[in-house]
Amino acid sequence: MRIVVLVSGTGSNLQAVIDAVAVGDLKLEIAAVGADRPGTYGVERAAAAGYETFLVNFRDYAVRADWNRALTEKVASYAPDVVLSSGFMRIVDEHFIDSFVGRYINTHPALLPSFPGAHGVRDALAYGVKITGCTVHIADAGVDTGPILAQAAVEVLDGDTEESLHERIKVQERRLLIETLRQLSTMGVPSLPQR
Ligand code: GAR
Repeated sequence: MRIVVLVSGTGSNLQAVIDAVAVGDLKLEIAAVGADRPGTYGVERAAAAGYETFLVNFRDYAVRADWNRALTEKVASYAPDVVLSSGFMRIVDEHFIDSFVGRYINTHPALLPSFPGAHGVRDALAYGVKITGCTVHIADAGVDTGPILAQAAVEVLDGDTEESLHERIKVQERRLLIETLRQLSTMGVPSLPQR
């Protein structure tokens, strides 16, 4: 299984994938790691591990659809079986989704469909939920929507801050992500009807 990973930030989930591949816990090929903005730590991590990296800078495009098209073409050039959104904080359009139907996987730090968006941890904390968690799902063109592959629950503790809660969620998120990728690499990507 060849994967392309998309990141916008720190890339700690990506690092977990890189580490699992390095020790043979995960049998897949990371074809490339790409970002939507320059200077991400995620891309640095990938380069440090010897992987090919690319940038399709959102700010270089006046029209969003042009950025989407450029991203789609770049990702497709690696012929991935799976595209992983690992903290990739941009919504992609139908053109991208249609090019990777059922093969675009996203990870989110909340129990979807609750608390989608860029602040899943903050929103769950603000709402006052006692249990939150993380979700790995097949992404569609919505905001953190699409068929759920796996979820894990994380208890919200008294005195939790967004940071402390997100750190505990990320422990589960990394585990869930590796498990899901392992399943996909051995059992294949679930086939969805072509649109
Ligand atoms: C992760 O918790 C991921 O679920 C979240 O961004 C974080 C990235 O961390 N993604 C979203 O909120 C998507 N809506 P990382 O860059 O350290 O892997």
